[in-house]
Amino acid sequence: MSDPFERARHHARKWLENLDTGPAGAQAGAAELRAAFEAPLPETGRDAGEIIDALAAKATPGLNANAGGRFFAWVMAGSLPSATAADWLVSAWDQNVGLFSVAPAAAMIEEITGEWLKDLFDLPRDASFAFTTGCQMAHVTALAAARHRVLAHAGWNVEEEGLFGAPAIRVLTSRNRHGSIDSAIRYLGIGQSNIVDVDTGPMGDMQLDDLEQKLSHYDGPIILCLNAADLNVGTFDDFAALIPVARAAGAWVHVDGAFGLFARVSERLRSLTEGIELADSWATDGHKWLNVPYDCGIAFVRDAEAHRAAMALGAAYLSPSREARDPNDWNLELSRRARAIPVYAALQELGRQGVADLIDRCCEHCHALVSGIGALSVPGASAKALNDPVLNQGLVRFERAGASKEENDAFTDDIIARVNASGEAFFSGTTWNGRRAMRVSVVSWRTNDADVAHSIAAVQTCLTGALAGT
Ligand SMILES: Cc1ncc(COP(=O)(O)O)c(C=O)c1O
Repeated sequence: MSDPFERARHHARKWLENLDTGPAGAQAGAAELRAAFEAPLPETGRDAGEIIDALAAKATPGLNANAGGRFFAWVMAGSLPSATAADWLVSAWDQNVGLFSVAPAAAMIEEITGEWLKDLFDLPRDASFAFTTGCQMAHVTALAAARHRVLAHAGWNVEEEGLFGAPAIRVLTSRNRHGSIDSAIRYLGIGQSNIVDVDTGPMGDMQLDDLEQKLSHYDGPIILCLNAADLNVGTFDDFAALIPVARAAGAWVHVDGAFGLFARVSERLRSLTEGIELADSWATDGHKWLNVPYDCGIAFVRDAEAHRAAMALGAAYLSPSREARDPNDWNLELSRRARAIPVYAALQELGRQGVADLIDRCCEHCHALVSGIGALSVPGASAKALNDPVLNQGLVRFERAGASKEENDAFTDDIIARVNASGEAFFSGTTWNGRRAMRVSVVSWRTNDADVAHSIAAVQTCLTGALAGT
């Protein structure tokens, strides 16, 4: 019998140590993975250490190395050493952080970590907060508070009366929003048809004149959702101009800052977030730019009373604390993993300065990748950068001389697939302003200059191979 904890430690270390040299993306596809895992439900038990060994052997070929330095797809980071280790403790301690009385240390760490984050992002110090599974649920949490408040202003108690017969809420939001805003609006029963698109400029930033015009059409409850960095080119809405106009119209303003809220920590980038503190709620992620393990999102709400009214459970058999914060007053979930603990560890490992350095470093790497890949050419084809990154997100497209737009869309997807299959680097694709592009998203603490040079060279090799038909 082997010790499952020792085996897990061994496999985890091996995985982390191989990140610098191993493939950037999963090498096994669905058929291989199904063949590896498919088996009848076991009728009898088995040695725990053996289970861990078999799990690692079967899963490793199907793991993406998003924890590594050459993974630039979606917006996915790795995890800082202290955060990963703290997460192991979270599992071992197995605390249910719904209430202080049920998990005193974990609830207290969450209380303190939430305060630290408000300080880090320079948000109102009396704002309430919730640790969620991700930015998606941070939107749901914050927008539930918004729903409470805008309907209360219209004389409607949504918690008591539900939404049947309630005044219609309009959600004004950028055409360039993330899909998680739409999901949140649907989960909250507001309905997709109550989303009103506000026009955006060429880089995807909300246009003030269109917002003013759309606000003037509605006199009922309004929520406005703004972007602190979109996931294609990292565009920020102009908070200082847009928020006062929306608030003057009685709107609740929510900001999607899944990763862009972190720009606020960098001296060089902070001006991108000017005016963001005027909003009513903010959603961000720990598992993106803070490099804590999945899963972790955070919602902040200026109007703590609305937040609590939307979330608090208050069942008779639970004993609320008089001396400390009860997480379930602020979260949808009752029983919860102590996901603030890795955040607490990460903030100590980095400190404010370390977070700022991480943000600046990722932006520099993104710039180097986009300009380096964008300058590549081989006889008959070349790459071109579609933006000059303002943050950590960039786009590159690949074009063959004389080819149509559609052919170059397919060529761009082919280059992405070739790079990913090579295992040398990993990128995802997108459609931006009607054209296919390779996304370059840099959020990992591990990415360094060597990773950047290696990844540019890998793209060059694939471009050459595509032209040679190999
Ligand atoms: C801008 C933006 N908002 C929201 C989300 C959703 O975040 P999560 O996957 O943590 O729920 C993402 C995810 O990439 C994002 O990029």
